[in-house]
Amino acid sequence: MRIVYFYNEEWEKEFVSRHFPNDSFNFISGSTKENSTAGDPDAEVLSVFVNSPVTKEELDRFPKLRFIATRSTGFDHIDLPEVTRRGIMVANVPTYGEHTVAEFAFALLLALSRRIVDAYERIEESGSFSQDGLRGFDLKGKTIGVIGTGHIGERMIKMAKGFDMNVVAFDVYQKTDLAASLGFEYRPFDEVLAASDILTLHAPYNSHTHHMISVENINKVKRGCYLINTSRGGLVETMAIVKGLESGVLAGAGLDVLEEEGQMVDEGVILTSEHPNQESLRIVLANHYLMKHPRVIVTAHIAFDTQEAIERILTVTIDNVAAFQNGTPVNLVKPT
Ligand code: NAI
Repeated sequence: MRIVYFYNEEWEKEFVSRHFPNDSFNFISGSTKENSTAGDPDAEVLSVFVNSPVTKEELDRFPKLRFIATRSTGFDHIDLPEVTRRGIMVANVPTYGEHTVAEFAFALLLALSRRIVDAYERIEESGSFSQDGLRGFDLKGKTIGVIGTGHIGERMIKMAKGFDMNVVAFDVYQKTDLAASLGFEYRPFDEVLAASDILTLHAPYNSHTHHMISVENINKVKRGCYLINTSRGGLVETMAIVKGLESGVLAGAGLDVLEEEGQMVDEGVILTSEHPNQESLRIVLANHYLMKHPRVIVTAHIAFDTQEAIERILTVTIDNVAAFQNGTPVNLVKPT
């Protein structure tokens, strides 16, 4: 079977290919975006990471494709309706390490609450040991609102409880047993916005969650709230963060994901394109505002990135491809 694998790091090639001695590999360095003409007429299996959009355009270049193994939990980079229409199956990595992402979300929170980045930069840039203006706030006793109580959200709640925080949550599917055992409360969405000193987002990105925090409802958020987003940029309308920071509704934000983050990698492409999309340009500009903002920490979608998690991601991906080859596919995803 012909397997096309868009890889990020050299070592992945050996790690993966040794499990498939009877198959032929086409390893391509980088993303589908960076290889916008790459195709393979014989490929039946495609493996990509979240930085690789798989839309009609890419699918046309792999006409014999039957299976896509995305090396991620989220699958919003894949055009599922189009893939389904073509009879192609998609498998993801549902649970490679909820603690990996939750630990990062908590790291963003602690960096904000204790001004770690500001404190580090003070020493690094000026060599000054002054403590002025670096006062933080305690997490103990604060209310954290968790949007999405799946694998990562649950882990986040456990950590928040370890810090003696109050936890309120919103999810379209409520786990009442979990709420009772961990000691948190499900509330309607608007009530979570109004009650939370910190909001942390752990819902998937889809048409229902698109801009769940927007310029329309940002003023429902408790004044002085800190927003943590390690889920997907599209959950929050970028201008809502800008307006929230300007008006004081948001005291700060820790963002591992941004709307249009793909465009941030190569802004030159949209700036030089003949008809740049106005909305994309606006978001890219707003993203720069956020990246420079003194009370915002932006990281480049790295919450998943630990050595242990990457090895688990590859191991599950290898199992996904093998299960497909054996006629018993697992971890298949469906359009929502
Ligand atoms: P999960 O599927 O275990 O949990 C998602 C939860 O969100 C579920 O409980 C679901 O019921 C809930 N949900 C669905 N629609 C909702 C809505 N409209 N409102 C509120 N809740 C809703 O997923 P998991 O593993 O916890 O991951 C969450 C997200 O984190 C992924 O979809 C992915 O986008 C993101 N992620 C980000 C990473 C990063 O590196 N920054 C790495 C891994 C995941």
